[in-house]
Amino acid sequence: MDERSIVFDNYQPSSYNEFIMFENLKGFIKPGSIEERLVNQIDFNRLPRHVAIIMDGNGRWARKKGLPRVEGHRAGAKSVKEIVETCARLGIKVLTLYAFSKENWKRPKREVYTLWKLLKDYLKNESKVLVENNLRLKVIGQKQGIPAIVRKELEKVEKLTTDYERMTIVLALNYGGRSEIVDAVKEILGEKNFHAESLDEEKFSEYLYTANLPDPDLLIRTSGELRISNFLLWQMAYSEIWITKALWPDFRRKHILQAIVDYQKRERRFGDVHS
Ligand code: IPE
Ligand code: IPE
Ligand code: MG
Repeated sequence: MDERSIVFDNYQPSSYNEFIMFENLKGFIKPGSIEERLVNQIDFNRLPRHVAIIMDGNGRWARKKGLPRVEGHRAGAKSVKEIVETCARLGIKVLTLYAFSKENWKRPKREVYTLWKLLKDYLKNESKVLVENNLRLKVIGQKQGIPAIVRKELEKVEKLTTDYERMTIVLALNYGGRSEIVDAVKEILGEKNFHAESLDEEKFSEYLYTANLPDPDLLIRTSGELRISNFLLWQMAYSEIWITKALWPDFRRKHILQAIVDYQKRERRFGDVHS
């Protein structure tokens, strides 16, 4: 293991990236902790640019504790705050959180209501934090289907943070990967003077909700489920997948650090042969 420690006063960063990281994590990671051990294993010149997370397991977390499902969602909001802060401090550029799928409308009314209410509260409480920390918020999904009162709040925060560039937090809301693709096709077909020959993968990507964002390098799913659940179908063509049994409300800093450490051990080949 690397003997240097980011919390030691005599630490000498070996690159500009490491220096920035050192400044950002100083005082945030406890000396001698498991988090510190993991941070010391991360190569900050090879961070995943875009981390996407399927935040799953809130309901099971609540059931295990004999609580109503909505309490799991409430507890999950705390994980969101911790993971947003950790990713920003690490220097991740894009963090996408799958918060509400198009299919989630099938759930009981009370649960659906609580999910949107929690999101609204999150925006109200956190918009100041976003501004103070240079964090941009962007929503992907079918916006017109989002309850108006929440949509308004989202649009306000999106506008407020549009120029911030430390990290972009992408919230997938009323999101479905298939409908994203269908929506893109509809938009393309609506273009005047559209020529099929001019369409290629790069061009097509510009019509997706994620236009101008890099594809996810790392996909994390909590709660041990081995499926994609209609998330970023196009964009995930070559993402590395990391699954943990931890339920979302239990997902902490050490988990995301472990995911990044493991990601950096993978060999991404993109169809090529070993280098
Ligand atoms: C994830 O937790 C939150 C959302 C899908 C909004 P779940 O509510 O799916 O929790 P489980 O999978 O039932 O445990
Ligand atoms: C995926 O979780 C959607 C979100 C995390 C928002 P689900 O709990 O809805 O997925 P399934 O139903 O288990 O596939
Ligand atoms: Mg679930």
